[in-house]
Amino acid sequence: MNKTYLVTAGPTHEKIDPVRYIGNYSSGKMGFAIAERLAFLGAKVILIAGPVSLHCQNPTIQRIDVVSASEMYEACLLHFPVCDGAVMVAAVGDFAPMVVDNQKIKRTSENLFLELRPNPDIAATLGGIKRKDQILVGFALETDSDEEKAMLKLHKKNLDLIVLNSLNDKGSGFQHDTNQIKIFDKSGLIFTSGLKQKLEIAVDIVNKMSETEDFLSGRR
Ligand code: C5P
Repeated sequence: MNKTYLVTAGPTHEKIDPVRYIGNYSSGKMGFAIAERLAFLGAKVILIAGPVSLHCQNPTIQRIDVVSASEMYEACLLHFPVCDGAVMVAAVGDFAPMVVDNQKIKRTSENLFLELRPNPDIAATLGGIKRKDQILVGFALETDSDEEKAMLKLHKKNLDLIVLNSLNDKGSGFQHDTNQIKIFDKSGLIFTSGLKQKLEIAVDIVNKMSETEDFLSGRR
């Protein structure tokens, strides 16, 4: 496969002070599995990884470690133009503290208020600048009205495909080694998987990506 793909994976950490941050439970397993699958097929992979304790198996994967959503945003904007597509698997923090304290915030008996500002939406930004020859895949992790919300996100962020995993499905989503997904394109539902290992789910996602790429380039 003579192609280059950007993959984002893992959580982001938004610093509060030198010892604290706002994060989430993403393990990075799904994103790393997709990066490995694409690399196995011979693609060049640029993996933008948030703070995770995972290692890449395939030595050809170019891994760029970032911590915050802003760092992930900068790295994605830098590398996306040379890519044939991007798979946005990272659970990017939606908000970051307005002010980062230089000193550890002292514990007092008073309530503490943190003012948060919204982080940039990386997938939506890439959706706004993507060329016709680039495929953009996003993820949706929902707890209610799943399918409707996934379709809305696909259109709002100008994605070609969206992968839905529902927190209502047992064994799906954060931390698990398994996942269960539905894939939608602009016309609606195109694929439903069973509960499988994330490595097998990655195979399904990459297969659907290549079918979509063939469709987008008029080969189908
Ligand atoms: O809007 P929501 O966070 O549910 O969208 C999820 C999708 O958007 C995922 O593909 C995620 O990687 C991406 N995303 C992003 N930047 C953000 C928030 C989400 O790239 N700030």
